Amino acid sequence: MRREEKQRNHGMTEMKTRQVEQMTPEFEADVEELISHYPVSKRSASLPLLHHWQNHFGFVDDTGIEWIAAKLDLTPINILELLTFYPWFRREAAGKTIIRVCRTLACAMAGSYDVKEKFCEAVGLDPHVEHHGFGSAPPTTPDGKFSVEFVECLACCGSAPVALIGDDLVENIKPSDVPAIVKNLK
Ligand code: FES
Repeated sequence: MRREEKQRNHGMTEMKTRQVEQMTPEFEADVEELISHYPVSKRSASLPLLHHWQNHFGFVDDTGIEWIAAKLDLTPINILELLTFYPWFRREAAGKTIIRVCRTLACAMAGSYDVKEKFCEAVGLDPHVEHHGFGSAPPTTPDGKFSVEFVECLACCGSAPVALIGDDLVENIKPSDVPAIVKNLK
């Protein structure tokens, strides 16, 4: 086995251990409560459990996929296919603060491509790196502080262009506003 491969596998083992070790009785109780909302079909709890896992751990590793599948009497592929279909979910850690810039029509016409480029420049990321989802984390700064990605409509088209920064929606962003916004995040 090549050295890099060994290191990668070692990292995955550590990641696996970490997520399992962080499982608490409270976390499991919350899972049971979520499942109880779907008495007809436990499978319907798949997305809520993925959100719950990612909110708690930051991403969903293989142990998460297997654990959720077992909890819902499914096979891991049933969870993996959801995780890789919805760009919101990821199998790798992203930055502490994720900057999600809307690129749907109203925002695109109002300049969101320029805004995203400015965010990348302000945090030190290459604005031309593409991110395709499929469970991968968005481009992230080496210090792990920021990720920047495009997302689809954030349902705030009247104040385009908009971005979701962490949990905060920021509206009517001008490219010239971006350095000050990022400075406040640091
Ligand atoms: S198009 Fe950007 S919020 Fe709707």
